[in-house]
Amino acid sequence: MDGDVRLLGIDDLGACQRLAEDREWGREDHKWRFLFAVGDVYGVEDGNGELAAAAVCTPYGEDVAAISMVLVAKRFERRGLGGRLMRHAMDNAGTASICLTATEYGRPLYERLGFRSVGLCTTYKGVSAGPSGRGVSVLVEATDMAAVHALDTEVFGADRSRLVDGLPSFCETLRVVRDETGIVGYGGAWRNDAEAVVGPVIAQDAETALTLVDEVVPEGPIRVDVDHRHPELTAWAGEHGLRPAFTTTVMEYGDPIANDPSRLFLPVAQALG
Ligand SMILES: CC(C)(COP(=O)(O)OP(=O)(O)OC[C@H]1O[C@@H](n2cnc3c(N)ncnc32)[C@H](O)[C@@H]1OP(=O)(O)O)[C@@H](O)C(=O)NCCC(=O)NCCS
Repeated sequence: MDGDVRLLGIDDLGACQRLAEDREWGREDHKWRFLFAVGDVYGVEDGNGELAAAAVCTPYGEDVAAISMVLVAKRFERRGLGGRLMRHAMDNAGTASICLTATEYGRPLYERLGFRSVGLCTTYKGVSAGPSGRGVSVLVEATDMAAVHALDTEVFGADRSRLVDGLPSFCETLRVVRDETGIVGYGGAWRNDAEAVVGPVIAQDAETALTLVDEVVPEGPIRVDVDHRHPELTAWAGEHGLRPAFTTTVMEYGDPIANDPSRLFLPVAQALG
């Protein structure tokens, strides 16, 4: 498969979803639309009107990019297509660092490209009884967004303006915790196919983070992506009857990212950091 790598548009959404289904991934309509809105989706045609491969790159200014949804159709795998698409996405990002979350299929490929493992992330799934908080957090207001943005940049280590601006419409629930100094945490949850994903959660400490999780979690099937550096979230998942579904490897490339993992409790999505 030697077609050119092409920047895809929202008209290619259906082809991306068929490719994802070919690898037993869900359709994830809401997530794909957000990825198209905030980043760059690349693909290689198969010559018959379908995609042979796709990958998403979401650059956050000049510092960090997140790469995700690296997919090669089964009929074209192990021919170097994944590697070619990754190099294209990495070159076009032009950032000092790149982050991603690797499946067991992707990890050897990323290691060959120079990515290093920085941690593990276990995805927990189960059925939630709904929010149980005491109303410490409040719904985000438009006037909070500048402070949410500042906190996000400080903790994530890069300017995610476009993504943060999109969170109030992407998330089903987006709440903040305030004290006399201002916003000390924000958290949300969003719909992905039949389940709700809990995240992002960024907060000054674990108590604030768990308060946010308790107050944004909706009733019904949920998914939570827990970085192993946050045992308090692993405990929360266990206490709420969630079960580990799979584990991925958190990887970085290039300069060390100037983030603060201790305050980065849950990603927006594994695809976005
Ligand atoms: C992970 C994935 C994208 C890799 O795509 P790919 O096109 O097969 O990747 P490549 O061909 O560049 O490399 C894969 C392997 O094929 C080998 N290869 C590359 N060109 C080859 C060729 N011409 N002949 C034989 N083998 C070849 C590579 O050396 C590599 O071998 P290794 O896995 O033993 O190290 C693909 O398997 C996939 O879509 N998996 C499901 C979705 C997924 O998990 N994606 C990763 C998300 S993080």
